[in-house]
Amino acid sequence: MTKAGWIWIDGNLVEWDNAKIHVMSHSLHYGDAVFEGIRFYKTEKGPAVFRIAEHIKRLFYSASVFSMKVPYTSEQIATAIKETIKKNKIEEGYIRPILFFGQKMGLSNIDLDVHLAIIAIPWGSYLGDKAVRVRTSSFIRIHPKTSDMDAKISGHYVNSILASVEAKKQGYDEALLLDYKGNVAEGPGENIFIVKEGVLYTPKTGSILPGITRDCIIKIASDKGLKVIEKDLKLEDIYNAEEAFFTGTAAEVTPIAEVDGNKIGKSENFPIIEMLKEEYMNAVRGKNKKYENWLEFV
Ligand SMILES: Cc1ncc(COP(=O)(O)O)c(C=O)c1O
Repeated sequence: MTKAGWIWIDGNLVEWDNAKIHVMSHSLHYGDAVFEGIRFYKTEKGPAVFRIAEHIKRLFYSASVFSMKVPYTSEQIATAIKETIKKNKIEEGYIRPILFFGQKMGLSNIDLDVHLAIIAIPWGSYLGDKAVRVRTSSFIRIHPKTSDMDAKISGHYVNSILASVEAKKQGYDEALLLDYKGNVAEGPGENIFIVKEGVLYTPKTGSILPGITRDCIIKIASDKGLKVIEKDLKLEDIYNAEEAFFTGTAAEVTPIAEVDGNKIGKSENFPIIEMLKEEYMNAVRGKNKKYENWLEFV
C-alpha cells in the first residue's frame, strides 16, 4: 500500500502522516465505525467514481444502524471524495470513506461526535488475475440477529479477517463462509455466484452484505437475457456448478477454480464469467454506454 498523498479528515485535506485520530476513539475500541469501499477508474473523460450514489446511500444506511448523526450531506461526501481523488492525482484506485465515533469509554455511542475520513489509494487487482482456490471456513458468517448484516460495519470484519487469514494460512486464496443454517453466504469481502445450465444463482440476502457489484452483475446478466435466481445454496451446489465467481468492489469479477479441492466446471473455460466480466469492466471504464449512469466523473 502506498503511504503517501493526502487524506481528507473532518473537512481538511492533510498529508498522509498527519491523518491521525485519538486512541480513545470509541470506534477503535468497539468496532462501531461504518465505511465504504469504492473504486474509481480511468476513462476517456478522466477518472470516474463507480456507483458513488449507491455507496454513499449504503454508508448512510450503515450509519443509521447506530443512529450516527453524520455531520455531512450525501452531496458533501460525494464532493469530498472527488476532491480527495483530484488532490492525490490518482487516475485509478480505491476510495475508503469511514465514519467513526469520537472519544468515550463505555459502550453507549448515543449522541457521540462523529468523524469522517476519506482515503484514496491506487489499488490493483485484489485477488489476482487467475481463478482462485477457495476453502470453506470453519467460521460461520455472523447470525443476522447478532447484527445488521446489510450494513458495512467495521466490527463485522473481525469475522471476515478470521476466515480470510485461516484460508490463507492453509494455502488457499480466499475463504467461503456458510451462514448459521449451513447455506452458502459469501466470501470475507465478496458475494458469490454460480452458473448451472445457463442460469445464474446467488445467495439471497439476510446473512450477506448485499453488494453493489452483485447488483451490477444481476443487472448485466438480466440485460444479456440470462436468468438470475436469488436463493439458498448449499456447498454441493457450488461444488457441482459449471462456473462460480466472486463479486465485489475490490474483487470485481473473480472466477473460482476450486472449492475445498473440488474443481469447478469441466474445463478451464468459463464463458459466462468471461462475458459478464468483460461487460462489467467495460462499464466501469466508461466503454459501455448503457451503464454510463453508473459513473460519476471527477
Ligand atoms: C462481506 C462483503 N460481502 C460482499 C462485498 C461486496 O460488496 P460490494 O460489491 O458492494 O463491494 C463486500 C465488499 O464490500 C464485503 O465486504
